[in-house]
Amino acid sequence: MLWKACALLFFVASIGSSFGDRNNITAAKIWLEEYNTEAEKVRPEAQEASWTWNTNITDYNNRLKLEAEKKKSEFDKRSYNQTLNWDWKNFTEINAKRQFYKIADIGESVLPTDKFQQITKAKSNMQSVYSKARVCNKPGDQDPSKCYPLNPTLENIMAKSTDWKELAWAWEGWRNETGRKMPDDYEKFVELANEAAGMNGYTDNGDYWRSWYETENFEKQMEELFIGLKDLYKLLHAYARKKLKERFVGHPFPDSGQIPAHLLGNMWAQSWGNLFTLLAPYPGKPLDVTEMMREQNYTTRKMFDLSEKFFTDLGLDPMPPKFYNDSMLDKPEDGRDVVCHASAWDFYNRKDFRIKQCTQVTMDWLITTHHEMGHVQYFLQYKDQPVVFRRGANPGFHEAIGDVLALSVSTPKHLKKINLLRPNQNPDDEELQLNFLMNQALKKIAFIPFGYLIDQWRWKVFKGETKKDEYNEDWWNLRCKHQGVSPPVQRFNTDFDAGSKFHVPNNTPYIRYFVSYVIQFQFHKALCKEAGHNGPLHKCDIDQSTEAGNKLAAMMKLGSSKEWPDAMEAITGQRKMNVSDLIEYFAPLEDWLKKEVKNETLGWDDQCGRNFTIPTPPPTSPPTTPTPTPQSSTVKPTSGFDSIHNNKTFIGIFIAILAIFVR
Ligand SMILES: *[C@@H]1O[C@H](CO)[C@@H](O)[C@H](O)[C@H]1NC(C)=O
Ligand SMILES: *[C@@H]1O[C@H](CO)[C@@H](O)[C@H](O)[C@H]1NC(C)=O
Ligand SMILES: *[C@@H]1O[C@H](CO)[C@@H](O)[C@H](O)[C@H]1NC(C)=O
Ligand SMILES: *[C@@H]1O[C@H](CO)[C@@H](O)[C@H](O)[C@H]1NC(C)=O
Ligand SMILES: *[C@@H]1O[C@H](CO)[C@@H](O)[C@H](O)[C@H]1NC(C)=O
Ligand SMILES: *[C@@H]1O[C@H](CO)[C@@H](O)[C@H](O)[C@H]1NC(C)=O
Ligand SMILES: *[C@@H]1O[C@H](CO)[C@@H](O)[C@H](O)[C@H]1NC(C)=O
Ligand SMILES: *[C@@H]1O[C@H](CO)[C@@H](O)[C@H](O)[C@H]1NC(C)=O
Ligand SMILES: *[C@@H]1O[C@H](CO)[C@@H](O)[C@H](O)[C@H]1NC(C)=O
Ligand SMILES: *[C@@H]1O[C@H](CO)[C@@H](O)[C@H](O)[C@H]1NC(C)=O
Ligand SMILES: *[C@@H]1O[C@H](CO)[C@@H](O)[C@H](O)[C@H]1NC(C)=O
Ligand SMILES: [Zn+2]
Repeated sequence: MLWKACALLFFVASIGSSFGDRNNITAAKIWLEEYNTEAEKVRPEAQEASWTWNTNITDYNNRLKLEAEKKKSEFDKRSYNQTLNWDWKNFTEINAKRQFYKIADIGESVLPTDKFQQITKAKSNMQSVYSKARVCNKPGDQDPSKCYPLNPTLENIMAKSTDWKELAWAWEGWRNETGRKMPDDYEKFVELANEAAGMNGYTDNGDYWRSWYETENFEKQMEELFIGLKDLYKLLHAYARKKLKERFVGHPFPDSGQIPAHLLGNMWAQSWGNLFTLLAPYPGKPLDVTEMMREQNYTTRKMFDLSEKFFTDLGLDPMPPKFYNDSMLDKPEDGRDVVCHASAWDFYNRKDFRIKQCTQVTMDWLITTHHEMGHVQYFLQYKDQPVVFRRGANPGFHEAIGDVLALSVSTPKHLKKINLLRPNQNPDDEELQLNFLMNQALKKIAFIPFGYLIDQWRWKVFKGETKKDEYNEDWWNLRCKHQGVSPPVQRFNTDFDAGSKFHVPNNTPYIRYFVSYVIQFQFHKALCKEAGHNGPLHKCDIDQSTEAGNKLAAMMKLGSSKEWPDAMEAITGQRKMNVSDLIEYFAPLEDWLKKEVKNETLGWDDQCGRNFTIPTPPPTSPPTTPTPTPQSSTVKPTSGFDSIHNNKTFIGIFIAILAIFVR
């Protein structure tokens, strides 16, 4: 999920400087004030245009949005030009210097008008395709006009179905209707984004994105964190694979060790929480929070109220008066197309803050609600900073806040308190604790390689190492290598599976989520200490600790006015990202998993992407009615998935095995 920042319009600045004033800090500060005042007037307008389109996708609203974006870019350019009136790089006043640095960082707005319009158009096209996509011809449906959106239908199928064929339909259909329609626009976007980055002095757009972390060797640091977590992931992977082979007995799993990507309870295999029932160490001790919520007639509003109360009980801010009226908390029932993907919005006027999501009454959505409200809390805490500092200390910090609170909210102890644990369940029961940790691991540990790999892929694309006709092959190389998952149906170089993940068409950088998953455990540990928690980290609930709340608030209030290690120090006392708190949190589960998978071969073939073939089913499978072959003869298979897939015999057998297990 993302938070929405940036959007400026135009204003006419008044302070010009003649040559001799280039070092006049007094004049420079007056200009900064004026910039800020104007930005607070004009940013809300651009945000409003974007909001309108996001909550009502029409051509008309798209035109308004493009117009607003054009004005924003003109404003950015003009402001940038005015920064040239000062030798701000030589200012000794750090705060003013940093504001200039941020104002001068205008991203894509640097492009000439025609190219700026091309890049915004390419992005809008991809976003429209993604948000309007529907998948038809569901197995068993007679009516071909029945088509299904991602939220809620396809998501629910991925979450709940145990029917291999139905899962494969949803998985493939979603990719047919999204990514596959985007490679031309994506290529155009990459070209222009790189051109803008070059004009701004970066080697490519990935280099530009990484610059927001102000960290030397950022790529190397990310890799080191990832390596530190890989063993833990492999344990979980081996355990999930073992149990999934039991569930889908008779279906082909690759010998090279990956898990077919459609079986993990999620469209992108990024979070495996929906497999909890299958994977719980003690199945007799469920954590059926969703059930409990439904029994208690939870509504969207009740979920938001519960979340807000956790924030205010820490001494943090309540949602502002207009929040509930102006937000879009449910999917509209009037049939209009909306961007359902959850997001939180700062309108930069210190008054308007909104959330847009298509809430369902489930525990996952309760956590998402906390996540998005964490963004709004950050907006509220830093709203008195200059506009250019109204950002997270780094993008990962913004993603971490709500999650940190959710780490407390999800504990059995807290669930008991808010009546979401069964009355006969004891929150201190060690077996229940282990179930809880498994549930957490399915969300957090399962996500680690996915959070890492998306930008591994994009950074390579921006560097020019991955060309358009290699988009999909390289995507699967990384999915195989880092996540240990494999495509359930053949892929071609006309597919563009990266584009089926929201953040790619939406051009939201992704490494922030990986960063967030690491640092949220550092924050959690620090806040638990502040709250006086004793005992294992996974049992900590910081509820009602104003000491913890104050620490968090002090960090959030900084916005991006300081480099992130300062913000991290304010909360944890240390200046580095470090996986050891995450590992400590999961220690009891790690021990349990080690015993559980001691007969399994850990890991998978790292080279799986390049020479992967979808496994053939056992020869004994009885034949069934053939289904139309899933490929057109003009399509060249991706080199990673070749030869055998052009073989009609193979396809016939493959479909046949799918058909046997229809429930
Ligand atoms: C610096 O700018 C301020 C505000 O414009 C002005 O009052 C002051 O005279 C300037 N100082 C110098 C040394 O030019
Ligand atoms: C959606 O936008 C269109 C303009 O393109 C407008 O006519 C319509 O009333 C809007 N719908 C809603 C529900 O706001
Ligand atoms: C910025 O300054 C440059 C050179 O002085 C000029 O060519 C350009 O038109 C200016 N742009 C804006 C938006 O004022
Ligand atoms: C900044 O200061 C250095 C040393 O004082 C000087 O050499 C340089 O020219 C200055 N930069 C600008 C842009 O004036
Ligand atoms: C894939 O190819 C690599 C060499 O490129 C080889 O080491 C590996 O064993 C192959 N894997 C399979 C499953 O054939
Ligand atoms: C939930 O709603 C049902 C049907 O309206 C009602 O019978 C039940 O008492 C409600 N439960 C709670 C906890 O309010
Ligand atoms: C409530 O929201 C609607 C749009 O969602 C807006 O038209 C109306 O002005 C808002 N009312 C208040 C009091 O903010
Ligand atoms: C991470 O933290 C642990 C425990 O505090 C420490 O031993 C280790 O050296 C740290 N790792 C790095 C890379 O700083
Ligand atoms: C491992 O294999 C041994 C011997 O077949 C068996 O007794 C044991 O239960 C297995 N352990 C697990 C965790 O499956
Ligand atoms: C996806 O597209 C391929 C090629 O057009 C087609 O054969 C296949 O049936 C489609 N899958 C779904 C689920 O729509
Ligand atoms: C297709 O696959 C079958 C079974 O693997 C094999 O017998 C046959 O020779 C293959 N045909 C082609 C054209 O590759
Ligand atoms: Zn988010």
